[in-house]
Amino acid sequence: MMFVRKDVWKLPSGDQTLLWYGRAVERLQGLPISDVTSWWSLAAMHGIDEPIWRGFNVIPAGATLPAGPAQITLWRQCQHLTWYFLPWHRGYLLAFERIVRNAIIDLGGPKDWALPYWNYSADARSRQLPPAFAKDKLVSGQRNYLFVAQRYGTGQVPQAQSPIVLDPRAVTITDTLAERFFEGSAGGGSAGFGGVKTPFWHGDESNDGTFGVLETQPHGPVHVLVGGGFKGNGLSQDPLEIGWMTNPDTAALDPIFWLHHANIDRLWNVWLRQKRRPNDSADVFANPTDPDWLDGPQDREFAMPAVDGTIYNFKARDVLDTQSPSLNYIYDDEPAGEDLTTLVAARLQRLGATPEAAFQVAGTVSMAPPKQAELLGANSGTIKLADDVVETKVRLDKDQQQRLSTTLSVSPSIQKEPDKVYLNLENVKSPTDAAVFYVYVNLPGDADPSDDTEHLAGTLSMFGVSKASKREGPTGGSGINASFDITRIIDAAFAREGLAEEISVKLVSAVPGVTSEGISIGRISVYRQEQ
Ligand code: C2O
Repeated sequence: MMFVRKDVWKLPSGDQTLLWYGRAVERLQGLPISDVTSWWSLAAMHGIDEPIWRGFNVIPAGATLPAGPAQITLWRQCQHLTWYFLPWHRGYLLAFERIVRNAIIDLGGPKDWALPYWNYSADARSRQLPPAFAKDKLVSGQRNYLFVAQRYGTGQVPQAQSPIVLDPRAVTITDTLAERFFEGSAGGGSAGFGGVKTPFWHGDESNDGTFGVLETQPHGPVHVLVGGGFKGNGLSQDPLEIGWMTNPDTAALDPIFWLHHANIDRLWNVWLRQKRRPNDSADVFANPTDPDWLDGPQDREFAMPAVDGTIYNFKARDVLDTQSPSLNYIYDDEPAGEDLTTLVAARLQRLGATPEAAFQVAGTVSMAPPKQAELLGANSGTIKLADDVVETKVRLDKDQQQRLSTTLSVSPSIQKEPDKVYLNLENVKSPTDAAVFYVYVNLPGDADPSDDTEHLAGTLSMFGVSKASKREGPTGGSGINASFDITRIIDAAFAREGLAEEISVKLVSAVPGVTSEGISIGRISVYRQEQ
């Protein structure tokens, strides 16, 4: 029997998947944190910060934390800002789902229970937090274990008045899925769908990490928009005022975390299903074949608890095929999406190629690893995000601008795909994780950002950034980097009026009036990457 993970918004009425999930949460929360299959230990595997957990009373007063070999092996493992982001979270979900299913079967529930997923990118309705998570009581009047008051950080929409609804800009996935390579580089070009090569990375061992494209959007913004942490006209820097989902050290305590990650895991499958042409058998969007990824990490093995409390290890190569017998699950919807040839051909036609030439070139785009990106220009000096709208200009190097223009000047006899262009936000630091910004390129001065998607480069969230900002050590915290593919925006500008000398970059706070001058970007740069 293959387990089927279903869309939470499409469960038929009367479906009991979530009811049983809630009962299992109750059961697992009843186990002590020293039990590796307890709700608490499972969440601590993602991250645990003792003072914060005590502040939230997750660790009862007077109790000491277990610190045995199981905790050392299992706790504090989540992989962010690294190419292990996807495989680690897949293994994590799998261990969790088995333990939850086991509890459900024990309670007399369905043997085929599987974790549902929250596909917030589907339509307007699905951007709302699923209602089963938003009410503190069940219809029966009993406590609803899928609701947690600590989900709602200070300033977050109080659930009783209006539900949490995600902004569409934070959950668009077109650009994310169009990313061609799993592995990115930190060199100014694409950051890769799955992230940049690193060792085991829990976010606090060293700094200067780069978000992979899927992690940038929609992963991080969904965390922060659910958790909140906005306070008056600023952002809370007190971890006890920040909703659980906003902080990696508390995120997995919230039952919605697991549905968010099931969707992220599903998007990995969706991405892999994309082809060069419909029905093509070759893998164009493919996982790394580098043994450092497949058999990694070398420095600390991923470890998970089995249903019986024993601990096992796994590597990326063990979790690549969800339909293999050891994983044995599918998602009820893994749409194959647009094929690469159609996407590239559409771009070439927008730049002026004839359909025939466009398809000709698009059918032969190189899938060799991207070339070293070249700097087109960068602003100088740190930018503080002290206002809710901050604009900066990036002046382009004349010579580089000329070269980019040349490749964008598509002639009818085009031979090769033009360069792609990337916007990089480098050394982003923040004293809090509770911030989200919409990033715009060349947004006209009179345009209302809330309904512009044409100039939207993407969404930047601070999920996990505060830790990466305050590290001690020789270089101090240098924050994180985020990279956005702005080819589409630059193409349009070029087709309209040619490349200007400057590019405008505007960061707009997701919650009007709410930002902090402690949030800064070390440098904003624009790179071109030859294809
Ligand atoms: Cu490891 Cu969405 O977090």
